[in-house]
Amino acid sequence: MANNTLLQVCHRNDDNKWYEVTMSNGKSRKYPYVWLKDNCRCAACYNTSCLQRETLIVNLDVDIVPASESVAKDGKSFEVVWPDQHRSTFQTEWLDAQRFSESEVDPVSFPEFNVWGAEMNGNIKAFDYNAILATDEEFYGWLRTIQTTGLALVRGAPTEKGVCRKLADRVAFFRRTIYGEEFQVESRPSNVSSLGYTSKFLVLHSDLPYYEHPPDVQLLHCIEQAKGKGGENQFVDGWKIVKQLKEEYPDLYKMLSTVPVDYKNAATDRYPFHMKLARPIIDFDLRGELCMRYNDPIRASYMLMPVDRVTDMYRAIKEFNRIIYLPENVVHHRLSEGEVITFNNRRLLHGRNSFTVESGSGRLLEGGYIDWDEVRSRIRVLREKLYSVERL
Ligand code: OGA
Ligand code: ZN
Repeated sequence: MANNTLLQVCHRNDDNKWYEVTMSNGKSRKYPYVWLKDNCRCAACYNTSCLQRETLIVNLDVDIVPASESVAKDGKSFEVVWPDQHRSTFQTEWLDAQRFSESEVDPVSFPEFNVWGAEMNGNIKAFDYNAILATDEEFYGWLRTIQTTGLALVRGAPTEKGVCRKLADRVAFFRRTIYGEEFQVESRPSNVSSLGYTSKFLVLHSDLPYYEHPPDVQLLHCIEQAKGKGGENQFVDGWKIVKQLKEEYPDLYKMLSTVPVDYKNAATDRYPFHMKLARPIIDFDLRGELCMRYNDPIRASYMLMPVDRVTDMYRAIKEFNRIIYLPENVVHHRLSEGEVITFNNRRLLHGRNSFTVESGSGRLLEGGYIDWDEVRSRIRVLREKLYSVERL
């Protein structure tokens, strides 16, 4: 955030090899000499076009001690002169925005989640398709909601193919998987590469749990809803399930979060594929974020576990399935034509009721995925633009 912080006092501390600085906002900060040298912003040291460092660590003297320093009269900058007479000027605002901290959390990388259950029924936050494409405010609100709530509705999209691609392109690009970039979820007569491509009931699941990195954000655009009965979707917040299991079923939680389940998906879509991976149903990534891996139709027949544990594993999965379907956990939504449901595929489970096919394929959704890296990048860029959040 732009501020008017001025640098007031600057003490050398050659024992610790840092400057001790006091700012007009009352904060005192320490800036190690080596860090200042490494982060010199002059045109020779730093590329101002791509904002990348041009100096080489091989040339960095970790024990460097400046020759001298001076604070600008107006307090807006601070100049260091190095032993070889190289000069580095640091803007006070820039210095003030830097962090050496173990506790400060970047709100885009690690947003706060709001955990929800059935109270979300009828309350899924909705955003306007055209406004998302036209305005940064609506666009930002939509992406932030997917981050914090994990579930958001987009309304007012045309009922034609290409909507998910427009949304993905607005963020960055699609995540490509064995099912392609965008895929059509419809009831096909035969040779299906997924149960999704039938009119049958789909039990609550996460998509593609056999990927080391399952897709992050899922988009499902309703082009045609079933004319007859059925086709409603269900959504469950995995964080709520984790909380409930930890509190009420700790042994089950332990089992589901430690014992790997074998997944296998072998069929032909764009090309023949054979995916397999064993991971626990309740998995976490390196950032500590939840990655549900539950997809019963593609649970493998082989089970890489001692045979005397097999029955217990079935009991655990069945109990898990009972809990996720408890009425307090489930949100139901029947997509209207022109709506796009967008959600965190790693945090939520989603499902679908069977539907009756009255003509043709009966129902057509188009889907696609976007990964968090690109979503978070877009959110940061939007924050810099909309709220003058400083790019460090
Ligand atoms: C799927 C799926 C949802 C739907 O195919 O994996 O979740 O509403 N489909 O058809
Ligand atoms: Zn799915």
